[in-house]
Amino acid sequence: MNLMIPKHIAIVMDGNGRWAQKRGHSRLFGHIRGSSRVRSIVRTASEMGVQALTLYAFSTENWSRPENERRVLWRLLKKYLKKEADDLHRQNVRLRVIGEVERLDADLQEILSSVVERLKGNSGLQLTFAISYGSRRELADAARRFALDCVHGILSPSDMNEAVLEKYLWTAGLGDLSEVDLFIRTSGEHRMSNFLLWQSAYAECVFVDTCWPDFEPKDLIQAIEEYSRRERRFGGIAGAGPEFTSLNSEGMLLK
Ligand code: IPE
Ligand code: IPE
Ligand code: MG
Repeated sequence: MNLMIPKHIAIVMDGNGRWAQKRGHSRLFGHIRGSSRVRSIVRTASEMGVQALTLYAFSTENWSRPENERRVLWRLLKKYLKKEADDLHRQNVRLRVIGEVERLDADLQEILSSVVERLKGNSGLQLTFAISYGSRRELADAARRFALDCVHGILSPSDMNEAVLEKYLWTAGLGDLSEVDLFIRTSGEHRMSNFLLWQSAYAECVFVDTCWPDFEPKDLIQAIEEYSRRERRFGGIAGAGPEFTSLNSEGMLLK
């Protein structure tokens, strides 16, 4: 089969808690296993020639979780960054973070910005972690900053259009890659949960039953195969050919 490699893949890494509970463990164990899955998925995406990979690690709504669960997630994120920074660098991966990073503990913010800085010159896979991220917050923030630019006379309301709005989104750094091609969610849930709503307007969605701690490179490849079978029409018509140029005035096809 002819594999079409999506330029930008977004993944909702879901199902850690249920995975662990099904096995008689605490939800936290699921996060530990889940965090160890990130490494091989990043590597596979990079090796397959995916240009951008955005991973949903923590949503604005996840702040409602118990403090001990949040603490474990931050600890695992720190551990991942410390352990993987060298390897990411060797793979020429660039790292970005989107979300309300200022809400995180100072030491986590520091580690994040030092790894981001270290990998800044890399030109391979554009890896983004969405942490304390929510699309609604992102869009509200874009509106606020655009309004400020209007107040300061830098732009005027009539300048607003889709391309301008994109420059105010947190994904602006990805430029042409900010549009998501393939949106994957694990754990059998069929929803977006406030992830990259604008950027995924025409994404192909693949929902898999596998929970994130079991998600392996072969599952990523399967999702890419599924993507390759899809026909992306972007509102157009399947296989629209030149016959559509030969219609009479009543819209009848001319043979
Ligand atoms: C995803 O797994 C990880 C985060 C949201 C941080 P969950 O913790 O949502 O696991 P489930 O969906 O409750 O099983
Ligand atoms: C979405 O999963 C957020 C992440 C995976 C980081 P949730 O588990 O928080 O989403 P809902 O509550 O099932 O919609
Ligand atoms: Mg969940």
